[in-house]
Amino acid sequence: MNGRFISGLCFGGVPDNFSAKSTLQSANNSASNSSAYMAHFRGATALVTGGAGFIGSHIVDALLAAGAHVRVLDDLSTGDRRNLLGAHIQLDAIKNGNTSDRNIHGDQSTLTTPHIDTAKQRGAELIVGSVSDATTVRRAVTGCSHVFHLAAMVGIAQSVHEPDKHYNSNILGTEIVLRECSTAKVSSVVFASSSAVYGLAPNIPSSESDPVIAASPYAAGKAQGETLIETYARANNTHAASLRLFNVFGPRQSATGAYAAAIAAFFAAAKLRQPASLFGTGEQTRDFVPVANVVQAFLRAADPRHNLCGERFNIGLGHATSLRQLLDMIADISEIKIPPRLLPPRDADSSHSCADISSAISKLNFDPQVSMLEGLRQTWQSLV
Ligand SMILES: NC(=O)c1ccc[n+]([C@@H]2O[C@H](COP(=O)([O-])OP(=O)(O)OC[C@H]3O[C@@H](n4cnc5c(N)ncnc54)[C@H](O)[C@@H]3O)[C@@H](O)[C@H]2O)c1
Repeated sequence: MNGRFISGLCFGGVPDNFSAKSTLQSANNSASNSSAYMAHFRGATALVTGGAGFIGSHIVDALLAAGAHVRVLDDLSTGDRRNLLGAHIQLDAIKNGNTSDRNIHGDQSTLTTPHIDTAKQRGAELIVGSVSDATTVRRAVTGCSHVFHLAAMVGIAQSVHEPDKHYNSNILGTEIVLRECSTAKVSSVVFASSSAVYGLAPNIPSSESDPVIAASPYAAGKAQGETLIETYARANNTHAASLRLFNVFGPRQSATGAYAAAIAAFFAAAKLRQPASLFGTGEQTRDFVPVANVVQAFLRAADPRHNLCGERFNIGLGHATSLRQLLDMIADISEIKIPPRLLPPRDADSSHSCADISSAISKLNFDPQVSMLEGLRQTWQSLV
């Protein structure tokens, strides 16, 4: 780590003065109402792969609010159809070896009797299937002008333990999505990459020009996805970009399973009044970014006026918080003191991580309106 800092933004402690002017909901609304960058979604057809998941479902909400026709392609392996509540769910359960049609609550009862919410006819169409199945992807992509590609196996450790599954979802799946986008002449593609591409000892803050040092199949798959996106953009002379997401949090994030993100797991511990598992010393720092800001970044990156040709952009808040600081913030917000349960450090876990977001600000007009503290408050409110 060479320890670069910009204007004191990193390791800034409690960052509530970072334009705390909006709630998650109002950020979604502001991202979807009057802004010029939203206008071109009106009447457009957009596909969100992984749209039943945490981040994807928030993108779906913003696109629907902007007047787009929205399709979701998701195998429900970690997503949940209830994240699309109110959507007009047209089930198309395509059964094949890669498709696991269930939700995280194990409820399969709705599969044969699709839930259609007649009160919300503007909802998204859910296609249950895998991005590794070309026939399904072709059907999902045909007629779309915009594709947001988020479907992926998201656990770093899982990518080590289940490399074949990881390959199918994250590498083959991205290849197939881009091949079908090319055939369907999709005009813009935005890919969910990850800060994991910077490796275990990244520069602080990390800049897009830093070397890619993948330390897991997951990170290598994201780096490969970025290359595929750039190749796709050049070969087709099409607008495309990759967003290197740092630690995203907010409502609907899963708090269960071995790969649960820290904030969701800490809030779940607070709710249950149980100790929170802390891997390592707890002094590790992360750039935690509220999901509303990430949604805004995706929609801005899809704006054809930026004329992107496969560029990569860091998406975070630009400052870092330690896990111990985070526990204190969560205790303040929830008014529940959560004792840490110290566990050994996890494999392939970096000590520190923080984004340099200057490129996203200058080239995408990225304007993260929701502070970390406001995002935490909104997340807690969604749980109680
Ligand atoms: N949450 C973060 O902090 C973070 C950080 C960096 C990158 N990302 C990336 O953002 C994207 C969304 O992550 P998330 O946090 O919302 O996780 P998530 O698990 O909630 O969402 C992933 C979605 O993809 C679906 N999916 C998985 N494999 C699939 C397949 N083969 N075909 C179709 N659908 C499939 C899952 O069912 C789920 O709905 C992922 O690509 C992830 O790698 C997330």
